[in-house]
Amino acid sequence: MKNTLIAPSVLAADFGNLQRDVEMVNNSAADWFHIDIMDGVFVPNISFGMPVLDAIYKHAKKTIDVHLMIVDPDRYIQTFKDLGADVLTVHYEACTHLHRTLQAIRNAGMKAGVAINPHTNVALLEDVIHQLDLVCIMSVNPGFGGQSFIENTYKKVAQLKEIITRNNANVLIEIDGGVTDKNAKQLVETGADVLVAGSFVFNAADPITTIQNLKNITTL
Ligand code: DX5
Ligand code: ZN
Repeated sequence: MKNTLIAPSVLAADFGNLQRDVEMVNNSAADWFHIDIMDGVFVPNISFGMPVLDAIYKHAKKTIDVHLMIVDPDRYIQTFKDLGADVLTVHYEACTHLHRTLQAIRNAGMKAGVAINPHTNVALLEDVIHQLDLVCIMSVNPGFGGQSFIENTYKKVAQLKEIITRNNANVLIEIDGGVTDKNAKQLVETGADVLVAGSFVFNAADPITTIQNLKNITTL
């Protein structure tokens, strides 16, 4: 049986009630907290930074999956380790020396992830596949929650799955952006292991039930 990991994106939480929303995730069927850090340079938006992650960490009881949408992420690897990150994902497009960056993340004691924008071909990851614990395929252009899912993502998931299998690598495929109950099952059938969901979860009338439904429809 395939147990898909569900990672609610805290970007879509109510920041005025952050502790309440973190505890909702603790009490749900979700597996991870997905934390979006945006710098206003790599992406055209600024989300939140270290003090807010520190506040989330104080209440969060699940794996902390940090998605860095920032330039020059090497400067902050140890900082995010100290803030409680379990998985640290950097953007392919933001790393000149990706191989070195991934090694530094693992050396700091975290799982190493790389995120790719919708225009970036998954084949570019083949030469670092054994340095990776996770690939985050962006199914929207990064920067904002609540955007529509890009259908070309399915093709990328299948291509990446083939690369991982052929190299006998141990890498999770995460999908980030526009995930709903309409595309979740097909994504998992195509090879996805982790589904990030922001607005679909936090804008729902009943987020706990919405998370449970995502979990149910992706348990194959
Ligand atoms: C987008 C972020 C996503 C976002 C997902 O730049 O990386 O994690 O929060 O939000 P939804 O699920 O609303 O598309
Ligand atoms: Zn994200």
